[in-house]
Amino acid sequence: MISNDRKRVRRSKILKELGLTPAWRVRECTEDESLSRAPESDQVMAAPVVAHPEFEEQVEQVEQVEQVEQVCMDSADATEKRRAMILRMDWDQLKESVEGCVACRLCNSRTRTVFGVGDPDADWLYVGEGPGAQEDALGEPFVGQAGKLLDNMLMAMGLKRGRDVFIANIVKCRPPGNREPSDDEAQCCEPYLARQIELIKPKLIVALGKTAARNLLNTDASIGSLRGRLHQHKGIPVIVTYHPAYLLRTLVAKAKAWEDLCFAQSTMQALKASE
Ligand code: URA
Repeated sequence: MISNDRKRVRRSKILKELGLTPAWRVRECTEDESLSRAPESDQVMAAPVVAHPEFEEQVEQVEQVEQVEQVCMDSADATEKRRAMILRMDWDQLKESVEGCVACRLCNSRTRTVFGVGDPDADWLYVGEGPGAQEDALGEPFVGQAGKLLDNMLMAMGLKRGRDVFIANIVKCRPPGNREPSDDEAQCCEPYLARQIELIKPKLIVALGKTAARNLLNTDASIGSLRGRLHQHKGIPVIVTYHPAYLLRTLVAKAKAWEDLCFAQSTMQALKASE
């Protein structure tokens, strides 16, 4: 709550900003009186600052804008504090925090949160978009058709879900109707993945599809233009490939995905050899 004194000083400043000073500063008086009196001095008196009604309207508009700005600043502050808190959590605290998360609208429609699955000390981190219907029901990522394909892709690379691999998503709750998570939903969930990455310390991240690439690499570039090159997320190498759900619909992309996996494998070998 702003005290009346502070309010008065602020009003006076606003009037000044609006070029409406020296203001008509009068004690408790009627509007007629205030209009008929000429300003004698520019000093702020104890009584409320009263300007012409039309000026008052402008002052009120400025005050409303200021209030909105204050709310935005408060919420930016709260967002920053929440992020800092999450970035101090250990693995179990993080899991618990995700389970109870109500930071965005996705919590209203989810059945279960999907923290991720696998080895928390894995060299490999695979990142998808967000849970679908089956993942939402079971609380585990990539358990539907796309998940079966991902498991096959892992097997082809000599990897196995849960062994030296962690699988996570950009958002931990299912976007209704399998839509893409919005930017603000992804932003809300970002500290969770950021902390998972800090704790897992993967040697290599594989971004599965556009949403993962966009959020990890902060780019809107197409998968076609991002694949085949090594990228970085906070100093960790990232390889981009197609999302398994896309591969199920677009069989011709499978050969390219295979190339990406071979590239990922040779990159991991090089990373291990350079240690
Ligand atoms: N698609 C994803 O991106 N993640 C899942 O967990 C399931 C489907």
